[in-house]
Parts: sequence; structure tokens; C-alpha cells
Amino acid sequence: MLRHSVSWVRFVQPKSCYTRPTGVCNIRVSSYSTASDYTVTDKFVKVNGRTFERDEWTNVTPNVLSKMNRKLHLQPTNPISIIRQLIESHFNNYKPFHSFSPIVSTQQNFDDLLIPKDHPSRTKSDNYYFDKNTLLRAHTSAHQLQGLSSGEKKFLISGDVYRRDEIDASHYPIFHQIEGFAYFDNTDPVSMRAQIEAGMNNDTRANNIDLLDDTVIKPSNPIQGCHSPENVQLVAADLKHSINSMIYSLFADEPDLKVRWIDAYFPFTSPSWEVEIFYKGAWLEVLGCGVVQQPLMNKSGLDNKIGWAFGMGLERLAMVLFDIPDIRLFWSEDKRFTEQFTPGKIQKFKPFSKYPPCIKDISFWVPKGEWHENNFCEVVRGAAGDIVENVQLIDEFTHPKTDKRSLCYRILYRSMDRNVTNEEINAIQEKVRDVVQDEFKVELR
Ligand code: DAH
Repeated sequence: MLRHSVSWVRFVQPKSCYTRPTGVCNIRVSSYSTASDYTVTDKFVKVNGRTFERDEWTNVTPNVLSKMNRKLHLQPTNPISIIRQLIESHFNNYKPFHSFSPIVSTQQNFDDLLIPKDHPSRTKSDNYYFDKNTLLRAHTSAHQLQGLSSGEKKFLISGDVYRRDEIDASHYPIFHQIEGFAYFDNTDPVSMRAQIEAGMNNDTRANNIDLLDDTVIKPSNPIQGCHSPENVQLVAADLKHSINSMIYSLFADEPDLKVRWIDAYFPFTSPSWEVEIFYKGAWLEVLGCGVVQQPLMNKSGLDNKIGWAFGMGLERLAMVLFDIPDIRLFWSEDKRFTEQFTPGKIQKFKPFSKYPPCIKDISFWVPKGEWHENNFCEVVRGAAGDIVENVQLIDEFTHPKTDKRSLCYRILYRSMDRNVTNEEINAIQEKVRDVVQDEFKVELR
């Protein structure tokens, strides 16, 4: 079995269970035209007017750079953007930010959020670095301090986020998130309660949604020492109310939805929670949230305030709400996709006919040491492009005598616009073989 990295809960302490939609994906994307302005050489990377000298951290790929200017969350009829708009209308008294640059410093992406120096989320195999201090943001939380410095007490931040990952129906190296943030005067509980009650909208609790929340504040998911339990309870109540009412409004037309709150851990909140939705037989994580770590507020000069934050992946929500079977469809420029949707409306996706796939296997002996599957997928996608629909490990064994390890991956190729010929895919597969051999010093079989 492949080891799946946990996409938007990567900032959580490791946990074993993670569910994803099963099955091989079968929808493809076309190539796109909204190119970013970028140059990658062996000395530097230049993108949108900024130049970064290469160092030992540089690992951004032309593939992701070419998509930096697509901004799907701002294309009015893209389901990602439709969900963003619906969330922004729901939180209508929050200031929306959607155009912060995805190029951020390690300070913004990690240090500002109190993510420890040795935290696994910082590794090169999980991120796209320009140089040791600069990367493509891995989450919209990277802009929390920027949001706070605007002076707004309630705000939303949406944008494209980047993580090196595997290739399949629910993982793509670029996806989108929306961050929510609200803070209050941290005064006596009576005034706190008044502030919070004044800002609460009516909870339009829906009969179609079964909400399970048995989380209680406890030592394993603690209140911060500097906070009073009463005020944390009030802030947590506002957070939960805000998120639940958003879910009620987004899922108003969805029959029999199950939603649950569970305890979580993030370096930048305490207590922390996650919200999951029961979908096609499995619990799907949709967001992380919590009471903001006070040092983060203090850093923004807000010592006497107390706040909550959440961060949510838009693709998963859109896949559930629009019934979209493959994450790469969001990137499609095929009119049969782009002309299906209307701003402000959640509609079920109508599948259109698919071209046949072409399947090729690649097997090799791996050199001793660590094998990073994300890097392998990255190289395959880099060499072949989005015609790669799925990469799956289908065989693995260790030779009993030589102790050498052999891996066999199955690559499924498919074009969205036309039938592909076997010769054409053979040529691409040859290129993939060359690049894989070159990059990982494997012995092809
Ligand atoms: N940034 C986190 C991630 O991508 C999600 C998150 C968790 C955002 C808790 C938050 C938060 O604002 O409070 O995994």
C-alpha cells in the first residue's frame, strides 16, 4: 500500500487514520493557456518579476509555476470560486482577502505560526521552495498576521496553496483554502458574552444534518494558561456556531449529512478541533480550527484580544457538493466543464464522455536509503504533464539474496480532448523512464 500524506491536516500531530475517496480516477484535464511568466535555469528561478537564486532548498517545478496565475478561486464559474463566494456571502460582515501573493517567507508559513524548526511540515519533500527562506505557501494560515495587521477584527483569506503530493483523484499539488479569523476584546465574561451574542446570526439549524459534537475542553486539548476558562468557552462557542451555521447553509440541499467535531492539535491554536463530514462511507476532514495562540495575537499588538481561526480546503467541499469525481477537473478548460456552472449556485456535475486511457508500468531497483514517493510523482508529472491521471504502486519486493528493493508503478495516461495513440504514450513513457533514472539513480528493469 502507498503511504498517503495527509494533505490539509499536515500541520496536525501525526495520526494514523486518514480516509480518501477510493477507486482510480477517470477524468482528465486539458492543458491550459493562462500561463505565468516564469523562467527556471540552473542558476535562478524567475517568476512574476521576482528572481530567486537557486540554493540547496530550491525545488519549485515548471509544472507548478505554470499554474500560479490561474487563480481558480477567482474564476466566477469554477466550483472552487462558487464555494468561496458562498462562504463570503455567509460571513458577510468579514473582510475578504483573496489576492495575497502565494510566494511567502518561511517566517510567514511556519515561524509566525509557532511551527517548530524541526516540524515535518517544513521538509523539502512536502513543499515547493524557491530558496531556503521562500516558498509557495502551504496554507492560507501563512497570512494570518497580514490579515491582523489590516486592523480588521473579522476576516477571510482565500487562495491557492501548494504541497508536494501523490497523484490521484483527490490529490493535486495545488489546491485552495479559505481561512477565517475573528477576535474580541478579552474583557470580563459578561462583556465578552455581550460582544459575542451581538455578532451571532440566527442559527438556521437544518433537519437534514446530523451534527455530532461531544468535544469538551480538557487537559489533552487545553486552554492556554493566559486565558480565562469562561472567555475561552465563549470564544469556542462563537467559533463552533460560526462554522456550524456555514455548514448548514452550504449543505442545505444535501440529504442526510453527518458532521462531527473531533479534538485536534495545531501549533497555532489551543484548544484545537477538526470538522469531518461523512461521505461515501468514510469520514472526510474538511477543516481545522481553534482558539488562536496568544503569542500570535501579541505579536500583532493585540495583547488584550482573544481570537479564533479556521482553515478549510475548498476542493474537498466542492467535490462533495458538486459531485466532482476528480480533483484535476477544476483545472479543466474544456467548455463541457467550464460552462456547466453558474455563480452562486451549487449544481451536480454532469459527466461528459471520456477518452480511453493508456496504461504503462515502470519498474526499477531503488538505491539504498529513503524513497520519497511524492518526489517520484512530481518527477513523473514534470516529465509527462497533466496527461498523467494516476500513479499507483502495484508491486514491491526485496530480493532475498541481494537485499535490493524493487518497485513497480502503474501510470495511467489519458487526454481530455482526444484519443491518445500508443506510440505517443510510448514516447512520453520513454521520457519518464529517462528522467526517473536520471533523477533518482534507479536501475530500470
Ligand atoms: N492551516 C491548517 C492546515 O492547512 C488548517 C488550520 C488549522 C487553519 C487550524 C487554522 C486553524 O486557521 O486555526 O492544515
